[in-house]
Amino acid sequence: MARAAVVGADMTRFGVHDRPMQELFGEAALGALADAGVEPGEVEALYFGNAMGGQTENDTHLGPKVASHVGMAGIPVQRYEDACATSANAFKNAVEAVEGGVHDVVLVGGVERCTPGVGKDTAEMTRIFASASHRQYEQPTGITFPGVFALFTKRHMHEHGTTEEQLAHVAVKNHGNGALNPKAHFGKQTTVEEALEGPIVADPFRLMDCCPFSDGASAVILVSDDLADSFDAPVDVGGVGHATDVVPLADKEVPHVTQAARDAAAQAYEQADTSAGGMDFAEVHDCFTGAEVLASEALGLIEDGQGGFAAAEGRTARDGEIPINPSGGLKAKGHPIGATGTGQLVELTTQLRGDAGERQIDGAERAVAHNLGGDAATTVVTVMEVRG
Ligand code: COA
Repeated sequence: MARAAVVGADMTRFGVHDRPMQELFGEAALGALADAGVEPGEVEALYFGNAMGGQTENDTHLGPKVASHVGMAGIPVQRYEDACATSANAFKNAVEAVEGGVHDVVLVGGVERCTPGVGKDTAEMTRIFASASHRQYEQPTGITFPGVFALFTKRHMHEHGTTEEQLAHVAVKNHGNGALNPKAHFGKQTTVEEALEGPIVADPFRLMDCCPFSDGASAVILVSDDLADSFDAPVDVGGVGHATDVVPLADKEVPHVTQAARDAAAQAYEQADTSAGGMDFAEVHDCFTGAEVLASEALGLIEDGQGGFAAAEGRTARDGEIPINPSGGLKAKGHPIGATGTGQLVELTTQLRGDAGERQIDGAERAVAHNLGGDAATTVVTVMEVRG
């Protein structure tokens, strides 16, 4: 089957930026175009993600604004909103359009501003993020996303004996990886002791178990199979799976199983004619350390119930049997909601081209990205591989 390929990728540093969203997106988009050697006028469509600009800074209908800013006024722009899975879903739709013959060259990416530059403090941003939970059954209880993932993780601890110390190992690993990534929000390392002494955010999560609020943008250039070979170092899209899970939380049969991730992974692996065992590394949605544990199991990378043990034993380290989040993940690279999904794909592209410098996974040829939104309610799983 004809496969779309990524031929250009770039992102801003994730962190704190005091610039409007079109400027942030422009930096990532123009970087991706330059990386591909594509002119703005050659791009046929923009698939764009922004989750909450309307709520954070009264900035909506961003599609034509960002397209104009990067010299693409006139092209069709689709804007996606799927909470934290926003730009991975934009990517999935772009892949369908390119593989279906609708377009040959498209720009895909996302942007978000979440730090106090938008005029909101941590409490206000937490309330805005919680708009992605169930309006009638969850929001009135006051539950927030640290709380949602704490519930999943508590259940996993109860069922499988996962410990807070094992979660701390996830934080130590991802901060260590992030310290090697110049685009990461945090350049600092941490220790198990420091992580276990941090203030409680939502039991069992302490400060070091949580991703930060970040600003940032990311973008990739996607082209059709026919065009891919005319570019340097194209990276093929093997498959993109997309599934949703039951909402509200109370209706989930076994919450910590994150069924949507399992369903999306099965689709992506089947499309790519591979399995979890064929992955050389993974970028997963570690909004909280416990979320990485659940994702490592849902993607089939680690046996069910063993995610925490695997992290503590170094099995998911950069030099372990299945490196997870070599970029630093959301935990250390950062989590600017609408930019996170394509940010993971920037890391896959960089690693699969062998361009990741000190954090390079040696010999990586195929990898998986997992991006979720809301109460693990939307999940997009993408397999990418070196073009054969
Ligand atoms: N990990 C590590 N350090 C963090 C951090 C994090 N997640 N968040 C903040 N810090 C650091 C800051 O850099 C700062 O360090 P400094 O004093 O050396 O400058 C210090 O902690 C205090 O920062 P501040 O912004 O005041 O923290 P806060 O208490 O307001 O917020 C959290 C911390 C963890 C509550 C907040 O980052 C959070 O809610 N994260 C989760 C976001 C979320 O839910 N995303 C959606 C997921 S689905």
